[in-house]
This record gives sequence, C-alpha cells and structure tokens, in this order.
Amino acid sequence: MGVGVSGWRLARAVSTLGQLGVTAGTALDVVLARRLQDGDPEGHVRRALSRFPFPRAAARILERYYLEGGKAADQPYRASPMHSQASPPELLELCVAGSFAEVFLAREGHGGPVGINFLEKIQLPILPSLYGAMLAGVDYVLMGAGIPLKVPLALDQFVNHEPATYPLNVTNSQEGDDTLLRFDPRALREDDAELPPLKRPFFLPIISSYTLALTLVRKANGRVDGFIVEGPTAGGHNAPPRGRLQLSALGEPVYGERDAVDLAKLRELGLPFWLAGGHGTAEGLNGALAAGAAGIQVGTAFAFCEESGLDARYKEIVLKMSLAGAANVFTHPVASPTGFPFKVARVEGSLSEEEDYLLRTRVCDLGYLREAYRRDDATIGYRCPSEPAATWAAKGGAASDLEGRRCLCNALLANIGHGQVRKDGLQEKPLLTSGDDLVQIGRFLPRGASSYTAKDVVSKLLGA
Ligand SMILES: Cc1cc2nc3c(=O)[nH]c(=O)nc-3n(C[C@H](O)[C@H](O)[C@H](O)COP(=O)(O)O)c2cc1C
Repeated sequence: MGVGVSGWRLARAVSTLGQLGVTAGTALDVVLARRLQDGDPEGHVRRALSRFPFPRAAARILERYYLEGGKAADQPYRASPMHSQASPPELLELCVAGSFAEVFLAREGHGGPVGINFLEKIQLPILPSLYGAMLAGVDYVLMGAGIPLKVPLALDQFVNHEPATYPLNVTNSQEGDDTLLRFDPRALREDDAELPPLKRPFFLPIISSYTLALTLVRKANGRVDGFIVEGPTAGGHNAPPRGRLQLSALGEPVYGERDAVDLAKLRELGLPFWLAGGHGTAEGLNGALAAGAAGIQVGTAFAFCEESGLDARYKEIVLKMSLAGAANVFTHPVASPTGFPFKVARVEGSLSEEEDYLLRTRVCDLGYLREAYRRDDATIGYRCPSEPAATWAAKGGAASDLEGRRCLCNALLANIGHGQVRKDGLQEKPLLTSGDDLVQIGRFLPRGASSYTAKDVVSKLLGA
C-alpha cells in the first residue's frame, strides 16, 4: 500500500506473524529524503543507510538530506530531482537507497519473507528501485497497474549486478526513437570490491483477468512465479472495467460479470495465486483456498492498524467514521493521473471532494505519475495533468484531461505525515484511499480498544 502505508514497520509486523509482509515500493526515494529531513528520530533510516553497500553514496545522502532534530514544521522539504530517462546520479543513488532501506528494515531481525510492490505505470524509477530492494535481499516483487512483461529479465540481470533496460512508454513515439530506460549498477560501485551475487526474488504480477495472466506466462522475458488476482473492490488503483467505460448514477465505473477472473482457467496455468480485494475475512480466506488460491492479499484491514504508515490522525478519523457507519469509499474514474480508476475514501479535511481540491494551487514537483511524450524535436518531454493548466497545454496536453484529476503524489505523501509545505505556508492535504471493506474495519478492534494491530488482523483472518 503506497505511498508508505505499507511501510517497513507494517511489512515487518506481518512478516514476523508468519505471513508475507509487503512494503510499498512507490516514491521510496522521497520518503527516505523526507524521513531524514524530519530528523529520523529513532535512527532507523540512518541504521539502514549504515548497512547500504555503497557507503560513500550513503554519506552523500545524509549530507544532502539529514537534519538533526528535524526541519521546522513550517519549513518546506528540500526538493529532490524528478525522475526522467536521464535521471541524475544523485537521484539514482537516492532511489536505490530508498528501496534498500525499506526492505532492510522490514527484514531486520527475523527470518520471515518480505516483498515489495511497484506500479508498472511508474516506469522511470523501476530499475534502480528493483536493484535497491534486491540489495537488501527482498524475497518477492509484486507489480500491478500495467503489464510487467519486461521485469523478469531485469531481476535475473541484477542478481549478478549486471546492467538492465526497461522500455518506457512514450506517447506518440516513433520507430527509431530511443525510449529505453537503462540502469547500470556499476555506476554506484565505489571501489573494485566485488559485490556478492544477489538472490533472485519471486515475481508476482498483479492481474485482473485470465488473459493477462496467460500473456504474462507466454510473453514475459523470464520467469513469472505466480499471480495476485485483484478485483475492483480493492483499495488503491483498480483495473478499468472491460469494454466501454460506463458510469453508475453516482459516477463510479460499473463492473460486470466480464470482469470476474476465470479461476478455473487460471488454475490450469499451474502457478500459485492469491486473491485480493474484499477477501480480508476468515471466510474470504477459506473461500480463496477452496477456489484453489494459495492465500489472499489484504490491504484495507492493515491500512488502519497501528503499524501502518498512515498518519495517526487520519487512522483515528477513519476508524471513527467506520464505526459510526459513516465510511464512504468512492471509485473515482479519473482522479488518478494514471488513468486507472482510483478508490477515494471520503474524509473531511482531505482532498476527496472536488471543490476542496480546486482550492489547491496546481503544482507537479514529485512527478512519479508524469506521462512521457514525444516532443516535436523528437526528444522526450514529461507532463502531468496536475501541473498548472497552461504548462499542461503548452506540452500538448488536452484540456479535457485536466478535469477531475488530482495530484496523488503530493497527497499520498501527506497521508503519511510528509506533506510538502508551500510558499504561502499551506501544507499539502491528504487524499486517502481504501477498499470497499472500509465499512467493516471496526471488527478488528479488541473489546474496549480504540485501535488495533497487525496481529489482531492476522488472528481474525486465520479464524482465531
Ligand atoms: C491505502 C491503500 C494503498 C494501496 N496502494 C497500492 C499500491 O501502491 N500498489 C498496489 O499494487 N496496490 C495497492 N493497494 C491495493 C492492495 O495492495 C491490495 O491489493 C488491496 O487493498 C486488497 O483488497 P482489500 O483492500 O479489500 O483488502 C492499496 C490499498 C490500500 C488500501
């Protein structure tokens, strides 16, 4: 659960409970930089960096971002560069270190398995992020929001610290354009010392149809180890419905029978799969096992537990709303610049409502969801519908694409307490996402308690 909701603490807690704890892989470079600027009060980030295999890079990162005692609340975070096809070395090392630190901390002190989750749609940082996670010994890589055909080979190459490439989707690109992303781990190497071979993590693409699973098995450039089968009630981004997009009277995408995954056919592929989206109950788990799944992937239930990275204020508000029967999740068809439907929890004080969002000054300064496009001079430009409308238009963006879009990058960082402070002193506001199961999270509360832990969730799911 990105950004930082499945932080290392939650992944570690789940993993020590004997399950697969998965950290969010999105924007870990900025998360690392902001944790350091908040003074890294418990020293976890600095401890992880002290174990980063490239000590000089770690020292440069500390020099750039660490602020003893933390920045003043009304001061902005220092900007880090945005990713591009030619990301500067400073950003690449931050990106590798961000993934490394998250996985290192999630794995520290126990032998349970740990995974990391990426969105294929966020392509620019994929390679350095994968390498950083592998340096820390990640056991599983999960990837959704796209068709990750070209990930397996990169994993195989990084095992031996070899360079890897990844195709960047560039709107209007033409044959002969250079649209490859390249990452060479040797760029980080600081002396002649050989790095030991790494472990090849298991690779689990997140799919929403049997056809997609089959395509991955047949056409991926290496081994696919299983699937997460995610349905439209899951939190975060959802796959769009098949066929022409139809909206309900409330304005949500309408899903139908065609969107159900054919599990009988999926079973025939012979690979393990886990069901995600509305399965976070003991019955959901048993039903999944009976359908031949290896287990379930659960988000919403964990998003609001004590170990999740979500700002404690929002956990409390949402939990109260859920208990009062007032929790409301809206599947927004266009809020996300990715173009995928995105689940928005309607919470007062957040950016869930359009009229509140329109008060925000448009700015795109994190840029993870920027679209790469071909400029007239054949170079690659980057644009996001959350940037100022005039900038978007000057980059050839259609005015109709601005409607309803939200700046998820800034809002999702605000969700975990790292919202940017703007020149006018205003802080970026949160935008919470959750699955439809939000209405039921109260069931995890122990009697008389006002919060619950990952252990409470796992115990309930296992029927204890
Ligand atoms: C707060 C939140 C953030 C999420 N972020 C991501 C993400 O970054 N990448 C992803 O593949 N899935 C993401 N998801 C989906 C979860 O990984 C999981 O598949 C889903 O929540 C399972 O359904 P459930 O919420 O009904 O348990 C997110 C879910 C939530 C609740």
